[in-house]
Amino acid sequence: MDKKVYVPDPSVSRKSHISSMKQYEDMYKHSIDNPEEFWGEIAKQFHWETEPSKFLSYNFDITKGPISIKWMEGATTNICYNLLDRNVKNGHGDKIAFYWEGNDPEDYSRLTYKKLLEEVCRFANVLKSKGVSKGDRVAIYMPMILEVVIAMLACSRIGAVHTIVFAGFSADSFAERMLDAKCKVLITTDGVWRGPKLICLKEICDAAMERCKNLGHEVKNCIIVEHLPRLSVSQNRNGTTKENGDTSPEKNKIPWTEGRDFWWHEEMEDASTSCYPVWVGAEDPLFMLYTSGSTGKPKGVLHTVAGYLLYAATTFKYVFDYRPGDVYWCTADVGWITGHTYVVYGPLANGATSVLFEGTPFYPGNSRYWEVVDKYRVNKFYTAPTALRALMKFGDGPVKKHSLSTLQVLGSVGEPINPEAWLWYYVVIGHEKCSIVDTYWQTETGGHLLTPLPGCTPMKPGSATFPFFGVVPVLLDENGKEIRGPGEGYLAFKRPWPGIMRTLFGNHERFETTYFKKFPGCYCTGDGARRDEDGYFWITGRVDDMLNVSGHLLSTAEVEATLSAHPNVAEAAVVSHGHPIKGECLYCFVTPNEGVKFSKELTDELKKKVREKIGPFATPEVIQHAPGLPKTRSGKIMRRILRKVAQNDRNIGDISTLADEGIIEVLFQNRIEIK
Ligand code: WTA
Repeated sequence: MDKKVYVPDPSVSRKSHISSMKQYEDMYKHSIDNPEEFWGEIAKQFHWETEPSKFLSYNFDITKGPISIKWMEGATTNICYNLLDRNVKNGHGDKIAFYWEGNDPEDYSRLTYKKLLEEVCRFANVLKSKGVSKGDRVAIYMPMILEVVIAMLACSRIGAVHTIVFAGFSADSFAERMLDAKCKVLITTDGVWRGPKLICLKEICDAAMERCKNLGHEVKNCIIVEHLPRLSVSQNRNGTTKENGDTSPEKNKIPWTEGRDFWWHEEMEDASTSCYPVWVGAEDPLFMLYTSGSTGKPKGVLHTVAGYLLYAATTFKYVFDYRPGDVYWCTADVGWITGHTYVVYGPLANGATSVLFEGTPFYPGNSRYWEVVDKYRVNKFYTAPTALRALMKFGDGPVKKHSLSTLQVLGSVGEPINPEAWLWYYVVIGHEKCSIVDTYWQTETGGHLLTPLPGCTPMKPGSATFPFFGVVPVLLDENGKEIRGPGEGYLAFKRPWPGIMRTLFGNHERFETTYFKKFPGCYCTGDGARRDEDGYFWITGRVDDMLNVSGHLLSTAEVEATLSAHPNVAEAAVVSHGHPIKGECLYCFVTPNEGVKFSKELTDELKKKVREKIGPFATPEVIQHAPGLPKTRSGKIMRRILRKVAQNDRNIGDISTLADEGIIEVLFQNRIEIK
């Protein structure tokens, strides 16, 4: 499968911005030879209140001093102005910015650019009335509804820094992030339906705010969108029980703290629809977003205004080959970086029309995605391999009922796409005429780094192919020596592109050690990659103690810490294990305390604990009894051996440093097969 190359269909190439590899190579060369000119040209389409004094300055080499990256220093602008006011001024005020499609197919609405601008201004005024000003952090814990976009852009309009936490994180994880960011205000909703399940977000927020307060930080205000009562009656009435057994979500019946909590609609009522944008510096913070760190403590990745705008806009335009008139749909949640760059900032910077989807691929049936594609005549579709694999399970039937004839570009993100899923996407969804863009990137990189371009790049299933403009990938061996030509090594990048993060919030030193220390002069991704004879890149997966469950990055250390915190647990070790749908899953080894029986009750409790502490997506697949763990004589857990046990691979290699060999056989005997 590795060998076959899929040439873009002429129906896509004919119209695409970049239609040949020659054109790509010329533009790529220009972007590398003269980044100032390349990005400077792109910057011209946007509004700069003042022009930059220097276009690019950076130090990527830690041996020469602190790492710093600055694009368009000295310029001032406002990203919200560029996304909304500029498009309205250019005559796109009546164009649809978002079609909103609710969890229930009966719930849908739409918002034009003009209306979006008005709502954003109103909410920016609300934020101001709550004392939010430039540089303040605002926490957002919301489902995929129009107000989440309004909230984000209202922050950026007044120079406040949004910190979105995916509304699937537990109260504890959420609190940890709000505490680190010292968020002043929190924006949420009463609740949300996810498929047939009701989740009371405000209750989780209350628990998180309470926890912050106990730890010395008070979130001053909480603004709540009243979402549930406006949903279609059927959805509220057919009320499958929510987790705590309560059924009907009644208006206003949510926990409330007078003086701290405010209804969104009440605050918006008298707010003015005009709000002058705050002109901020090119390198002022735009948002922060937490991502897992291998030590277990989440990292507050910080992105800044100008570079992020240029990169989000440009990658969106070329990678999805955006053209006016397109309807674009990215299924990612705004709680992740994909939702930031490719649901909100990238599409709006291009004046695009997008679908904003609240639901899941499986509700009310397994053809929901394809229904939505046909309903809005989606041309460009962007989703994750884990969703594709989960849908493939149901066969081609649910797809075949839909035409999908409008599709032209199909994107994939978040994890390596296995060739089977790629082919299914290509053949069954794309009818062998769409270009597939397998986009490799990270929260830290702000936008795509390695990706095919539609109508241009010949595709190989499972390969993220070649670098985007301005991006210089290298493969390095353990000693930092560059591997040229075909080979495999650490994937790193040699110079900054505009969208790269600038620091980790409040911890520049951790930023430098995590990404720039191992290979001085390079940004180190933590991923491994292979380059084949044709120069194509293939991501081989994480090289650190991180794993990717259904596209969510998790650290094994974080889960280990949660398991070990249980009073009956002596020790725990967690490794990643392949999973047919999730890509990877958590395989945990737990040693109970002396005298404690390893029982189903204990494993159930542990799973529950991880769900509560981190979030449901982190639930361990397997918890295996480990009377002892394989350790080196110096006491380090040898996770390499645990991975072999999980895989039932007896070929465990060198164990000369192991303190007690006997434990290995016991672990193999206790092994649990993943269903
Ligand atoms: C993985 C998501 C292979 C990778 C945008 C990376 C991928 C991590 C791909 C970042 C891809 C993302 N092929 N692996 N196309 N896209 N990854 O920060 O391990 O949530 O380091 O950003 O996902 O995950 P993050």
